[in-house]
Amino acid sequence: MRFHRTLSPAAAPLTGKDLTNGLRGLLRSERARLELEEDLKSYFGVKYVFCVNSGKTALTLILLALQELSPKKEVVLPAYTCFSVPSAVLRAGLRPRLCDVDERTFDFKFEELQRVVGPETLCVVPCHLFGIPANLDRLQVLCKANSVMLVEDAAQAMGVTQDDRKLGTIGDVGFYSLGRGKMITCGEGGVIVTNSDELAQILDRHHAALPKSPFIEGGIDLLKTCLMLLMIRPSLFWIPASIPLLKLGQTFFDKTFPMTRLSGANVGLMRCWRERLTQSLQGRMANVKEYKQVLCLTELSEKPRAYLRLPVLAVSRSDRDALLDRARRAGVGLSFMYPTTLNEINEVRDEKKQYPGAQSIVDRLVTLPTHQYVSPQDRQVICALVQPHLVPSS
Ligand SMILES: Cc1ncc(COP(=O)(O)O)c(C=O)c1O
Repeated sequence: MRFHRTLSPAAAPLTGKDLTNGLRGLLRSERARLELEEDLKSYFGVKYVFCVNSGKTALTLILLALQELSPKKEVVLPAYTCFSVPSAVLRAGLRPRLCDVDERTFDFKFEELQRVVGPETLCVVPCHLFGIPANLDRLQVLCKANSVMLVEDAAQAMGVTQDDRKLGTIGDVGFYSLGRGKMITCGEGGVIVTNSDELAQILDRHHAALPKSPFIEGGIDLLKTCLMLLMIRPSLFWIPASIPLLKLGQTFFDKTFPMTRLSGANVGLMRCWRERLTQSLQGRMANVKEYKQVLCLTELSEKPRAYLRLPVLAVSRSDRDALLDRARRAGVGLSFMYPTTLNEINEVRDEKKQYPGAQSIVDRLVTLPTHQYVSPQDRQVICALVQPHLVPSS
């Protein structure tokens, strides 16, 4: 157990003012949510926004809506992504179909994707993991040619742009997560964005049918968020980090998640979201710039970019595990991300298929923290630890 400064792998701070707004939000009506949605519309430059209680709910709602437009049943997913993604697909009564990913970009292996997309494909869901944009131009062409919808999973990429277009707003429909450890948080939340009148009409109906988050639950969630705000600080994070029962950072597959509208308290917590998002993006960009320079990460994009966490690949699994062990003792917030490919989940598994790109990421990935609590001293320690384990760039 470490009793001193410990970084969490991901963090999205909230202020005392945010918490006061959350408390006020408990008592406010639906009008505050509508105001938030208007504000999000203007920032993202989209016609429609729907706020719900999580990214999983956002994706489930999107998939339920798409089913009213087409009888097709398959949803194509990257074989390496968050387990919440297939859980939402199954919750919506659809079949996940996996496609391998390129270990350098985390994006679909495009040649394989061209074979995977077929007559049963309802939609393709590229995930902008860590805030790294999937290649949407070629995806748009492929989707259009096959009459398939393009659903952007921008859960980890809120506010990130590519060629001046905001990720999440480029496909037919997209969503963001406001969960803990995302670009910004209100504890739990999800945001759907679309410009499609047809889809928005159906989404509006599904959204209206969602229950409101019960007042008591809103209050309990707010208390939990207060605790998180306190404990996420490097001076205190050693406490939750040393309680195995909390299962911090672990990934679970669960189809039984609650689906509600965004609670009043969480709407309140989002009141100053624009300032928080700007700060979060700028802080991450600055940290990534430093990592890039010191670690000579020449493969990173030329343009400054805000990564939710900075992914690097170690030489091998044993090498990666040794690095993580050292980093744990130093308390510097290094982490692997998802424990297996999606193909290891029983309800998703296709015994006949293999996903070597996704498996290589599972085995070798290390993520470096980029959030606002990372200090220049932390960066120095992290770079010294990581440097000997990186695959030299060709
Ligand atoms: C890529 C990705 N998609 C979807 C989700 C689901 O978001 P939420 O946790 O808000 O349900 C997450 C959350 O971690 C995610 O990282």
